[in-house]
Amino acid sequence: MKVLYFTATGNNLYIAKQLGGEYYSIPKLLKENQLEIEAEKIGIVFPVFYSGVPKVVEEFLNKSNLKSKYIFVIGSYGSFSWGTSRHLLEIAERNNIKISYYNEILMVDNYLPVFEMNRQLKKEPGKKIEENLNIIRKDIVEERNYIKMNAAFAKIIRASQMKQYDNHFDSNFKVNSNCNGCKVCEKVCPVDNIKVKGKPVFHDNCEHCLACIHNCPQTAISLKKEKSLARFRNQNVTLNEIINANN
Ligand SMILES: Cc1cc2nc3c(=O)[nH]c(=O)nc-3n(C[C@H](O)[C@H](O)[C@H](O)COP(=O)(O)O)c2cc1C
Repeated sequence: MKVLYFTATGNNLYIAKQLGGEYYSIPKLLKENQLEIEAEKIGIVFPVFYSGVPKVVEEFLNKSNLKSKYIFVIGSYGSFSWGTSRHLLEIAERNNIKISYYNEILMVDNYLPVFEMNRQLKKEPGKKIEENLNIIRKDIVEERNYIKMNAAFAKIIRASQMKQYDNHFDSNFKVNSNCNGCKVCEKVCPVDNIKVKGKPVFHDNCEHCLACIHNCPQTAISLKKEKSLARFRNQNVTLNEIINANN
């Protein structure tokens, strides 16, 4: 089994590891042009972004050739998944990908413009992550056929949230004097959108994933509008693992 994942703050790498099998980073597969994937089972694991599939995962699904009799997909989200299943199925249909199983799992919400991280961390026990992961793991072992569908009206929410991608997100970042030019932000960026020249310079291809902000060892990067300076990385994942995944 091959599990292909995208992560910014570790939740999806943790899920990928917990499912068993070999795991591969989607941004890395794209950068290395490794687009022919064959396995008895193939999994795609991603964070829900704006009620849908992140751009980098969509790009991978558009370009790759997945050969497997059982393709499963897991979307991890922090609060509301809304139109994610419909967006995923649109992408799959367009690319002739047969998805046998799609499920979602609630994890810690890392979206700083809306959520205060310490409050989100307090909600973690109630999300019953281990229990839900066990259910999903069992489903995959048994090759269950199941698609968790979001309500049809959620497409509207997805369409309105998608507009976030039109903004020049790079102009939302600010860097304070704690920055020591360590380049962690450059290395955790999944789409090579940051170049450190003394301090980070943000270009115009941002994935919005917030990896640079959450993983900055100096807490030097922030958004102009965010709820608090608290940061998050999944407790079972190290900074080096995220660097290895996205660099
Ligand atoms: C740009 C962005 C958009 C997000 N949109 C949603 C959303 O629409 N619904 C939701 O429940 N969580 C949303 N989240 C939260 C993440 O999906 C969630 O925290 C995920 O588990 C993070 O995975 P990671 O740690 O592997 O990066 C969003 C996060 C980011 C950074």
